[in-house]
Amino acid sequence: MIAVAIDGPAGAGKSTLARAAAKELGFLYIDTGALYRAIAYCMLRGGVDPSDAAAVEAALPGVQVELKFVQGEQRVFLGGEDVSGAIRTGAVSMAASRVSAIPAVRARLLSMQRDFARNHNVVMDGRDIGTVVLPQAQVKVFLTASAEERARRRFLELQQKGQPAGYEQVLAEIRQRDEQDSHRAISPLAPAADSVLLDTTGVSPEEAVARLVSLVRAAGCA
Ligand code: DC
Repeated sequence: MIAVAIDGPAGAGKSTLARAAAKELGFLYIDTGALYRAIAYCMLRGGVDPSDAAAVEAALPGVQVELKFVQGEQRVFLGGEDVSGAIRTGAVSMAASRVSAIPAVRARLLSMQRDFARNHNVVMDGRDIGTVVLPQAQVKVFLTASAEERARRRFLELQQKGQPAGYEQVLAEIRQRDEQDSHRAISPLAPAADSVLLDTTGVSPEEAVARLVSLVRAAGCA
């Protein structure tokens, strides 16, 4: 099996890149952030503080999180309910960043992520795919862009969705998540030693996909 690991900070364009590259390569695209988001969403819904490690850990056995693929598109389920849309809010983003710092949460999701890569060729994106989840991945990319560029993209995306927010607020949230995701004790966001750094500041999505696909081909993997 072939695994392509894409890590990087929030808003670097990981999901757009990974989805398009997976389509071109005929691989399964797995967005691991959706798993952390689903757990965070479940906690918020149950009135559990996502920063309270003991409370989250106690609630965790009751969380039934599952990924399913509908015509190649990933959907995330909580106890049989499709929550793929509900997990895409600012509040859930911040809560996901909080719960992802809790070791029991990461342990719970690790084998699930590895099982997909055992059975399929995958492009998997997240924060620790190349370092922890799939250290054997044949291609590893650390995708980044300046915080300002990432905030600008997010700001435009929110406007398009009819959920306008101030640019300064979006930038502050991006910086806060960067800080949390990079400085947590367990599996912090960091490039794997053998990863290729891809900075998408000023690079079009099409160009980023072309670069990734050529990396995979150059590695003799497709
Ligand atoms: O990629 P995303 O924005 O959907 O991820 C939401 C949060 O989940 C992010 O702030 C950090 C966490 N996460 C993680 O810790 N490890 C991963 N492999 C994926 C996401």
